[in-house]
Amino acid sequence: MQIVKKISEITQIVSDLHKNKKRINLIPTMGNIHAGHLSLLTEAKKFDGTNIVSIFINPAQFNEENDFTNYPKTFDADLDILEKTNCEIIFTPSVKEMYPRGANPEKTVLKYRDILCDLSRPGHFDGVTTIVKILLDLIKPSRVFFGEKDYQQLKIIEQLILQNSLNIDLIKCPSVRDLNGMSLSSRYVNFSQNQQLQFEECAKIINTQFQILKKIFNQETVKSIEYELKNFGISKIDYCEVRNEENLSLSKINERSRLFIAFYLSEIRVIDNFILY
Ligand code: PAF
Repeated sequence: MQIVKKISEITQIVSDLHKNKKRINLIPTMGNIHAGHLSLLTEAKKFDGTNIVSIFINPAQFNEENDFTNYPKTFDADLDILEKTNCEIIFTPSVKEMYPRGANPEKTVLKYRDILCDLSRPGHFDGVTTIVKILLDLIKPSRVFFGEKDYQQLKIIEQLILQNSLNIDLIKCPSVRDLNGMSLSSRYVNFSQNQQLQFEECAKIINTQFQILKKIFNQETVKSIEYELKNFGISKIDYCEVRNEENLSLSKINERSRLFIAFYLSEIRVIDNFILY
């Protein structure tokens, strides 16, 4: 496994791979590698090509400084995990390398905006599209792999690829869930023991109502998730909504829809979505 930190080096590697008619599979991450990321690598293995995992904690996509400071930084452990996988190259540049003139995130993708996370995390998706575009331009992959956990991000990246007419296949990978039914997230390593217990309770509330909702759509069931979470002591719920998974418009049916939820357990943000059909 090759660890690459410099843009000049990755540019050379990518150019050699292309010269040798090798395809590239890119898995962009912010590190704290867990089973969710590994499932993206497993998916990549189903295709031909060289697998590149990028690890870059992108400051431009954190709309709160505290969130950036507290984001788990586990580089050495990440390398140990990735060493045991089918990953050939890790691209792990510094902030200076990626943003030599400072990060100036621009709002280039307008579709799928002003809803869900975009309302509660202003500027976040501009930071995401800025770094993903830089990575795609540098690495020129044939395929890029994204998890469905951050579903709005996935749709926005799909649009970014479309808008720029990039010849890249976006491979959407299902969420990897814990036994409690919630998708894995890097942020959850920051849970204290007590917060972990609270999280388990929240998971039970969400899952119980989700199973009811899955049987038959009812707006009251959606509302009861919020109500029960609030009752349990969750004071900040960013959203709890059912939306169409194609266009992200609000939905009143289960067909082609997902339940989207985001809330805070103390200062740690939980986001997830659940297929309703
Ligand atoms: O989903 C993530 O980990 C990040 O948003 C991404 C896509 C790696 C961009 O920094």
